Amino acid sequence: LLLLGRLIVRFEALRGDPGARLFGTAVSRDPYPVYEAVRAKGELVHSSMRLFMTSSHALCDRILRDPVFEAVPAGALSPVDVAEWREGRRLVNPVDESFLVLSPPDHTRLRRMVAPWFTPRGLRARAEFVDRVVDEYLDRVDGPFDLVGDFAARVPVRVIADLLGVPDDDHDAFDRWGAAMVVALDGAQDMKELRTLRDGLAEFEAFLDDLIARRRREPGEDVVSALVGRGDVDRRDLIATTELLLVAGFETTVNLIGNAVLAVVAHPEVRERLVAEPSFADAVVEETLRMDPPVQYTVRAPNTTVRLAGTTVPKGTPIALLLAGANRDPAVFADPHTFRPDRPEREHLAFSGGIHYCLGAGLARMEAAAALRGLFGRFPDLRVAGRVRRRQSRVLRGAARLPVAGGRHT
Ligand code: HEM
Repeated sequence: LLLLGRLIVRFEALRGDPGARLFGTAVSRDPYPVYEAVRAKGELVHSSMRLFMTSSHALCDRILRDPVFEAVPAGALSPVDVAEWREGRRLVNPVDESFLVLSPPDHTRLRRMVAPWFTPRGLRARAEFVDRVVDEYLDRVDGPFDLVGDFAARVPVRVIADLLGVPDDDHDAFDRWGAAMVVALDGAQDMKELRTLRDGLAEFEAFLDDLIARRRREPGEDVVSALVGRGDVDRRDLIATTELLLVAGFETTVNLIGNAVLAVVAHPEVRERLVAEPSFADAVVEETLRMDPPVQYTVRAPNTTVRLAGTTVPKGTPIALLLAGANRDPAVFADPHTFRPDRPEREHLAFSGGIHYCLGAGLARMEAAAALRGLFGRFPDLRVAGRVRRRQSRVLRGAARLPVAGGRHT
């Protein structure tokens, strides 16, 4: 079935269907021409892959804010998963039961429970810890290193572990589960990935049951302690919410750090200013989110048949909102393909919009800016020193391996 799916994708891509190109293998190298091809075809483009797509900023924004369009599992877009999803035979996927894909009132109830950790006050309380974690990992690297494996992948997992109250001894295992579960955002592409996801999930859930029991006995200041202390949260909600925080907050942030470093290294004037003025990191992170966002698209489907941009969209048909395409919409961003951290336009959709607007946006920004300040403060001459391996993913964009070198500064 998978092979057949791939053959269909290739055939349709050859016929010039941008929907099929989105599922092709070239997309993980450079997806941006696909988004431009969609834009050139119109505001809302129908694909033979039984979905609609849009690169329009105005249309993405409108759909995200309209309750008629509900979130669906991102995996629903892969050719194989679409069939599974339509028949209601959902693949095991931790995010499918989380508030990322739920609608109100369940969405509101669950999101509200964890929101206090992400308020400006909640974030300020974490800032010092984030800086300390960044320093700690930078202390450990010397000479050439893998920016992703040795640094960018380490920081977010420590931050989430701390948020959830995971004991220090369990960090390595936690790291592994985070990596296994990242498949959840894309939908498993083959049986091997599906098995990795299922195994990672089973181990993680056993660990969470232990953690829940421990936090009932010895509560701390963390998310799990707060949730077990409430009467209205059952085990399923607790596990789905915890898994969502791990899945949504881990690889996304890793990719943001990696993509931002690649952008700085490619733009000498940006590097120069960042080294001289560390607070410039915030603007660099923001422009990276616009130009090379870690989450490239999200999916919505109308809960009733609607007319949209002059087209009829039947109830339940997936619409791929190409956030990374919308972020280069010339109607909103001047000179959209140029990396300009000081641009005045800030309304990118890297964190989506409407009720599912990323809960961790502030935390992600804080972690990425701290990472850039730390890295270029210590290694102002940091350079890419080997082949960058791209992550094989459509939803997530970033490097899986990024060898770097650069003389130590301090
Ligand atoms: C939702 C992006 C980091 C937690 C989302 C969505 C996007 C996104 C695009 C919405 C998906 C949709 O509309 O279908 C990112 C990016 C990140 C990042 C690019 C890093 C650069 C984080 C972090 C956390 C987090 C660090 C928490 C630890 C969440 C949660 C949701 C979410 C809980 C679901 C919100 C809801 O459905 O109400 N994120 N995220 N994210 N993100 Fe993030």
